[in-house]
Amino acid sequence: MPASLLDGKALAQQIREELAGDVARVRDETGIVPGLTVVLVGNNPASQVYVRNKQNACQAAGMIGKLLRLPAETGQGDLLTTIDRLNDDPAVHGILVQLPLPGGIDDRAVIERIDPLKDVDGFHPVNAGLLSQGVPRFVPCTPLGIRELLVQANVETRGAHAVVLGRSQIVGKPMALLLLQKGPGGDATVTVCHTGTTDSASIARQADILIVAMGRPESVTANWIKPGAVVIDVGIHKRNDGTLCGDVDFPGVAAVASKITPVPGGVGPMTVAMLLRNTLQAARLAVRARSIHSA
Ligand code: GUN
Repeated sequence: MPASLLDGKALAQQIREELAGDVARVRDETGIVPGLTVVLVGNNPASQVYVRNKQNACQAAGMIGKLLRLPAETGQGDLLTTIDRLNDDPAVHGILVQLPLPGGIDDRAVIERIDPLKDVDGFHPVNAGLLSQGVPRFVPCTPLGIRELLVQANVETRGAHAVVLGRSQIVGKPMALLLLQKGPGGDATVTVCHTGTTDSASIARQADILIVAMGRPESVTANWIKPGAVVIDVGIHKRNDGTLCGDVDFPGVAAVASKITPVPGGVGPMTVAMLLRNTLQAARLAVRARSIHSA
C-alpha cells in the first residue's frame, strides 16, 4: 500500500489561523502588534520568493511583516549597523536575515549580532546552546515544523530510530537535537549521516523515521527505506522542466514508506508557520520584559 501524505500545507494553514487568534489577543490585551523584519541582501531569486512568503504570512496573521531589501554590494559593516538599529527598535520583535548572504559577508558575525531575544531563526549561539542543553527558547523553524508534523500525525518518536541525513546548522543539527529532547516529539534514538559517512543508505535503511536534508535532488531512492518508515523530505529543487522535486525520489519511496511529505506542500509551509509562532513568542518575551522593567 502506498504511503499516506503528511500534509504540511493543511496543518500550516490551521496553525496560522490559530496564531492569528493569538496575535489578536496579544494586541487587545497589551496594545502590542508582533512585528517581524526580514532582511534580504542581494537578488537571489529563490530567497526573494521565500522572504515574500514570510512577509505575506506575517501580515495575514495580523502581525507587522516588513521586508528590508539591501543591495548586493552592501558591506558587512553596513549590515551590522542595520541589525543594531533593528535590535534597538521596540516595534521589531523578530529579526530574520535571509541566508545565504552574498560572498564577502561573514554569516557568523551577522547571526551573532542579532539580539538573541529577537532571533526568531534560532541560529544565534545562545539559542543553539539552549537547545543543545535541553532548555530550548527559539528553535530553527524547519526542524520545529517537522516535529509538529510528526506529533500531529501521531508518529511515535519515543524509542524510534530516527536517522537525519545532513548536518547543517539550519536543519540537520537542530533536528537531531529536537528528536533527542525529552517529551512529545522527542525521546528518539538519533543517528546523523553526512558527507563523511561511509554508507548512508545502509544506515537510512535502519530508520523508523528518516529526515532527509542533504540538498541533493531525488537522491534517496526506495532501496534506502525500511518498509513502513516515515519519510520527511526537506529538499526543494527545480528540475530543468520547471517542476519541483525534493531530495527524495517520491514515487519510488512512497511505495515503501508508510508516511511521506510531498514536495511542495510538506515541510516548506510548516517552516513559515513556525516562523510566525517564534515571532509571537518573541513579542510575548518583549511584553514580559517591559512589565518587569516597569514594575
Ligand atoms: N535560508 C534557507 N532557510 C532559511 C531559514 O530558515 N532562515 C534564514 N534566515 N535563511 C534561510
